[in-house]
Amino acid sequence: MKIAVLVSGNGTNLQSILAHIASGALHAELVLVAANKTVAPALEHARAADVAVWAQNARDFASREDFDRALMVAIDESGAELVVLAGYMRLLSAEFVQHYDGRLMNIHPALLPSFAGLYGVPDACEYGVTIAGVTVHFVSEIMDSGAIIIQAAMPIASGDAVADVEARIHALEHRMYPQAIEWFAEKRLRLEGRKVQLLPPQNGQKRKEAALEHNVLFSPPLEMGF
Ligand code: GRF
Repeated sequence: MKIAVLVSGNGTNLQSILAHIASGALHAELVLVAANKTVAPALEHARAADVAVWAQNARDFASREDFDRALMVAIDESGAELVVLAGYMRLLSAEFVQHYDGRLMNIHPALLPSFAGLYGVPDACEYGVTIAGVTVHFVSEIMDSGAIIIQAAMPIASGDAVADVEARIHALEHRMYPQAIEWFAEKRLRLEGRKVQLLPPQNGQKRKEAALEHNVLFSPPLEMGF
């Protein structure tokens, strides 16, 4: 399955997707990395991996719609079947979201619907939650509110530094995002309204769930290789 990844920043999730493709766990071909800026560490990772890059400054376009239309042309020409937002820090136009309805994913560093928005981890720490987490979801027109594919939860303590929590959150993201993409590639995500059902493997085999781990819960559970 061909995928496009949209980035704006560090690109650690992009690196993890590339690593899971290389390991053979994720059966996808990364056909395009696109960004709303011309300079970002994520773009360097893409170029180092010989992936095609589309990078334009959003401010060079007259409107959000104009920028998104140019991005849609690049994505559609790449042949991508799934569009993956991985730290893409720009609101998408309604036209873009509708165009990729059911094949546009995002990852958010909090247990949605709590702590939507730009500062999921600091907001959760500030609030004093004792369980933090991550959500991978299909994108809908309302930010951070589409149907949930997988969530991960982990305990945090009031004395934990935000930077430490962020590092642990990232470690969860780097496992669950490739897993969610693999489920999509295997056509095992059935989207019905707000709900996503994870179907069993199509080859008639049972799910090969990874072993349970101390202090972290993935739901649905990750499978072997993630
Ligand atoms: C991640 O924390 C993700 O949840 C959020 O943006 C961050 C991207 O990190 N949407 P990176 O660029 O993949 O390192």
